[in-house]
Amino acid sequence: MDTETTYQLLDGKRCSEALKQSIAEGAAAVKSKRGRPPHLAAILVGNDGASKTYVEAKVKACEQVGFRSSLIRLPETITEEELLSRVEALNADAELDGFIVQLPLPTHLNADRVVQAIDPRKDVDGFHPVNVGNMVLGLPGFLPATPSGICELLRFYHIETDGKRCVVLGRSNIVGTPMSILMSRNAYPGNCTVTLAHSRTKDLASITREADIVIVAIGKPQFLKADMVKEGVVVVDVGIHRVQDTTRKSGFRLVGDVAFNEVATKCKAITPVPGGVGPMTITSLLLNTLKASR
Ligand code: GUN
Repeated sequence: MDTETTYQLLDGKRCSEALKQSIAEGAAAVKSKRGRPPHLAAILVGNDGASKTYVEAKVKACEQVGFRSSLIRLPETITEEELLSRVEALNADAELDGFIVQLPLPTHLNADRVVQAIDPRKDVDGFHPVNVGNMVLGLPGFLPATPSGICELLRFYHIETDGKRCVVLGRSNIVGTPMSILMSRNAYPGNCTVTLAHSRTKDLASITREADIVIVAIGKPQFLKADMVKEGVVVVDVGIHRVQDTTRKSGFRLVGDVAFNEVATKCKAITPVPGGVGPMTITSLLLNTLKASR
């Protein structure tokens, strides 16, 4: 029996390092032309540990490519009116090219209302309805970071998408839904026949087994198993979870939405966790900020 593992690892770290090099060159050009580098701000409300980690990673990435960054930490108890007035101030700040409001927000704040208050020209997360609409229509605008990072990764590794069957698992506004739209667009990557599967989908395994490309953003650790995919599939894993692991000094390890070890043996290509989609998301945010600064 041939048990050799021949899958290609879609290395998001490697791809993002390559992209960051050209982003750094772009930043230097903006600086010499405009007298200041691209500038990204992030609003972080409250003390959610995961959100703090993500925002700090975004700020660090800005430093790496020569951007200016501002981290605006606001208390958990902030009112919606106060938060909206902070957003308005950033909209009006001529020294700032783009900003994000890290989600999720505390439950007393209406995230839709806050996102809709962001000037679409500074909405480098691509979450504002104007940018979502432009994406659907294939018009210029900011693409959301995770789906756009996945597209960059597929492009970097020359993954064929034209005419392929793509199943996207999970219909969130920030990953699954935009991913399904981008994969069906008349573009590369794209031109897939896309199925968007979700919590109400019946007989999911029979659908994923038909797929040439499976993109998993369902938020459940190691959900996608080997018996749910066909031989030669390309798998993109958006999930990241801490699971207990007493063999590690830290007491935990990171896993995705895919049972990597068993699924990988059937794959043509697969993203690792960590080091797959995660680094690409941040790099896409940098690309959007560079675009905003131009
Ligand atoms: N929370 C999880 N992912 C994201 C993201 O890409 N942007 C923002 N603002 N919040 C998030």
